Amino acid sequence: MNLKDEILKLKKEKDVVILAHNYQIPDIQDIADYVGDSLGLSRQAAKTEQKTILFCGVHFMAETAAIICPEKKVLIPDPAAGCSLSDSITVDELRRWKKEHPKAAAVGYVNTTAEIKSELDYCCTSSNAINVVKAIPENREILFLPDMFLGSYVSKMTGRKNMYIWAGECHVHAGISSQDIQNKLEQLQNSELVVHPECSCTTPMLYDIAVGDYNNRQVQILSTEGMMNYVRDSPTQNFVIATETGILYRMRKQNPTKTFVPASEKAECQYMKMITLDKVHRSLLEDKYEVRVPKKIADKARLAIERMLAIS
Ligand code: 13P
Ligand code: SF4
Repeated sequence: MNLKDEILKLKKEKDVVILAHNYQIPDIQDIADYVGDSLGLSRQAAKTEQKTILFCGVHFMAETAAIICPEKKVLIPDPAAGCSLSDSITVDELRRWKKEHPKAAAVGYVNTTAEIKSELDYCCTSSNAINVVKAIPENREILFLPDMFLGSYVSKMTGRKNMYIWAGECHVHAGISSQDIQNKLEQLQNSELVVHPECSCTTPMLYDIAVGDYNNRQVQILSTEGMMNYVRDSPTQNFVIATETGILYRMRKQNPTKTFVPASEKAECQYMKMITLDKVHRSLLEDKYEVRVPKKIADKARLAIERMLAIS
């Protein structure tokens, strides 16, 4: 029996659901029960019937599932699969920042550790960050963390002036420049541009994005699942995709007649690529590595995540 069949057999026997992020390698996407973005996978974790969740993604995502489903076992095939963005703020730094703005609401992106989440009022993802900020009374200051590009985009789209933004970034998305985008748009005629809000290119393009076009091309700023839905529904045939390149596999598979080109071939998250079929197989066989969040931290973090899940 080949490795993929072995994995499918084991997950059935052991009553395991496999969740995979859109940036996972093709082999992992193929054996997953659900592939999606951070918000979609959190929702899926919350409603799944299986007793064990095998999370193919990075550590903060598996932690989020463990916080939402305390009665379930959450496994990650490689616990070293981290995230440069979630590493860009420590809990001490956040506590100090909160002390400087004692009345502010702390809004944190889902790309944060469980400990950081336990200090937040609201959690958000790229797909609901604007709505989360809109749900906070206008006269209340907001501390937005840790992604500065997502923060600037949200502040522009909501017109919110009393929002302080942490200067963190994801090294993969920060590396996608406006020049990369310019080059690809020139190469691919009649293409639309689809951009993840963590990209550094969103800042110089903010004005164009707010009015919906960039150099006479349609432009959309979307979470990874928002991108999937958009390219499926758009009548356009050609797309330049500004995010981690792993998503192109699913886009091409689901839309075989359309053309997808990455804004930058270098936009690869080495943490996401740490999850391999061999590691998934071992994880299923040996029930490892279990992701545990101490109850005190999980109970506090859950409040911020539940507020996020209630706002779409
Ligand atoms: P999404 O929530 O859009 O899937 O993004 C998660 C992420 O890590 C982006 O780098
Ligand atoms: Fe983190 Fe960036 Fe990788 Fe997403 S792409 S998991 S934000 S390092």
